[in-house]
Amino acid sequence: MKLAVALIPVFVSSLTFAAGGLTYPLEQIEPDYTDKESLQRGLATYSHYCMGCHSLKYQRYERTATDLGIDPEIMVQTIVPSDKKIGDLGSIAMPPKVAAEWFGAPPPDLTLVARKRSPEWVYTYMKTFYIDPTRPLGVNNKVFPKVGMPHVLEPLQGQQRVVCQESTSGDNPIAGPNSGSGPPFIERQCDSLEVVEGTAQLSAAEYDRVIYDLVNFLEYVGEPTKARSHNIGIYVLLFLMLFFVFAYLLKREYWKDVQ
Ligand code: HEC
Repeated sequence: MKLAVALIPVFVSSLTFAAGGLTYPLEQIEPDYTDKESLQRGLATYSHYCMGCHSLKYQRYERTATDLGIDPEIMVQTIVPSDKKIGDLGSIAMPPKVAAEWFGAPPPDLTLVARKRSPEWVYTYMKTFYIDPTRPLGVNNKVFPKVGMPHVLEPLQGQQRVVCQESTSGDNPIAGPNSGSGPPFIERQCDSLEVVEGTAQLSAAEYDRVIYDLVNFLEYVGEPTKARSHNIGIYVLLFLMLFFVFAYLLKREYWKDVQ
């Protein structure tokens, strides 16, 4: 029994350590379906940098063009691959089996990724690739450890390296608090990332914007009806307001003779 009580602090501290090590804080963003220019820029980034590996196989090009206000002609010229028609789904030619051999895992379809993971997760994921020579592709990721995807936006963001901070404030967990003996415990935290100077084409703010637009687009693709249902909601409310006025006038008309 005594042993069990003595072990409680050890257990608790290992739990907090595990929590700290596993969950990387996600950056908060506010997707905006009504910002069509942002969605269009996101589509452009997707088609340029992601479409080679990731499909959007539950979404037709035509639907995207209509919802984002893109002229069908321009959609065909700039986005739709030459072997496809505008009414086709956004599947890609890369066979998953071969892709799995190349990357260790096949690139998953991205239609529902923002719903499966959350927009915040995808946003933080696209911002936290960092140099790791122990990985086959030379990069690792803070929210997706040991990821099989290369950092395809590296020319834009630049290479990132991990920065460790050391603090001597923590008590030595082995000696216990206030043990008063031994050297001070040095805590090393390696959570921050910094861009290696001279490797980025964009500023940090510009890169954030590119990723925001991209995630905004992926969030839209995951729920394309949301943009439309939002609009319908407004019309329904307007209709109800108008209906109330007529209902009220009608009520007055009916009760006029009764009173
Ligand atoms: C060269 C091929 C390639 C390109 C290009 C690429 N990816 Fe990936 N991506 C992968 C692979 C492979 C995985 C699976 C990684 C794994 O499971 O370890 C992946 C995984 C992901 C995931 C995680 C999905 C999940 O839920 O597990 C997201 C999100 C993602 N990619 C987004 C993107 C975006 C956005 C782009 C364009 C900016 C992009 N990818 C471009 C190969 C690619």
